Amino acid sequence: MKKKILVTGGTGYIGSHTTVELIENGFEVVIIDNLYNSEADVIDRIQKITGIKPSLEVFDLCNSEKLDVFCRKNRDIAAVIHFAAYKAVGESVNKPLDYYRNNLLSLVNLLDAMKKNGIPNLVFSSSCTVYGQPEKLPVTENSPLQPATSPYGNTKQVGEAIIRDTTVSDKNIKAISLRYFNPIGAHPSSLIGELPRGVPENLVPYITQTAYGLREELKVFGDDYNTPDGSCVRDYLHVVDLAKAHVVAVKRLIDENNKTNYEVFNLGTGIGVSVLEAIKSFEKVTGIKVKYKIVARRAGDIEKIWADPSYANKELGWKTLSTLDESMKTAWEWEKKVRSK
Ligand code: UFG
Repeated sequence: MKKKILVTGGTGYIGSHTTVELIENGFEVVIIDNLYNSEADVIDRIQKITGIKPSLEVFDLCNSEKLDVFCRKNRDIAAVIHFAAYKAVGESVNKPLDYYRNNLLSLVNLLDAMKKNGIPNLVFSSSCTVYGQPEKLPVTENSPLQPATSPYGNTKQVGEAIIRDTTVSDKNIKAISLRYFNPIGAHPSSLIGELPRGVPENLVPYITQTAYGLREELKVFGDDYNTPDGSCVRDYLHVVDLAKAHVVAVKRLIDENNKTNYEVFNLGTGIGVSVLEAIKSFEKVTGIKVKYKIVARRAGDIEKIWADPSYANKELGWKTLSTLDESMKTAWEWEKKVRSK
């Protein structure tokens, strides 16, 4: 019998890529998504890639009654991967209550429903944002957390704490928080990828949309940072590599020999890349010049951060396989395909 995995936010960017990897690893996937930031046809695209259509239930996890009904019917869920959340840093500053309600209430409801229905395992989408601007680079899992600079970031810190405390109080619940660095790129089939609504907040969709002619020019937020070329440095990892880490995490949780209740892993490449280097990589692999100008720093930006992924490499037997150039290439192939519809 296939093990059943609940993926919340499974039609979103990282959720859809993870669903593909789960199906390809022999899991049955059921998705809950409110389609706030994604399209229902993603499940058809997943079917085109894998030959299997995951089931999709459209409702909001803030609705605890619906969630309870769902979990009562699906007590055989072996693990939950919880992606569903708001994720725009800037927006969260203006709408803190929306972020706290959506990101934290949904998590509390989910843990409640898991406890009530004997669903034992959770993988949580966390972020390197919990480290703030680290004093020492690269960042290990033991690097100190710093006060969050946005309500969004705070929901990830508090979310981790809620999960940790739950696993301490209830030994039947096991969880892994995965702290993502910067996921980019798209599935090699170009059938799924990142599709932000409106003006993209993140660098790579802004680059691809500018290259496609949808945006006038890219604004590079600052070239006066204390970095080799003055632009901010991040650790960009391919979304398919990131998706595969979730499969490993699920397998680790459902392994009965694994008695650890709560663990945290950094997921990154270990390589710091500047904004200007990211643009150059895109230009190199596509042959397209990206029109950009340097503008003022963006409020709240971290100057530089990249992962020490050695703990995940060793403990999970996982590492990133795609290069920055390959990631950029897939991001561009996806942009072209999705616009040509
Ligand atoms: N950038 C630009 N121009 C743009 C967009 C981004 O120069 O139009 C720069 C940013 O200043 C930053 C880099 O590109 O230096 C990456 O920015 P992103 O917005 O793509 O990513 P962030 O690192 O700021 O944020 C991401 C996720 C957040 C998460 C955070 C953790 O989007 O959800 O990583 O550090 F919290």
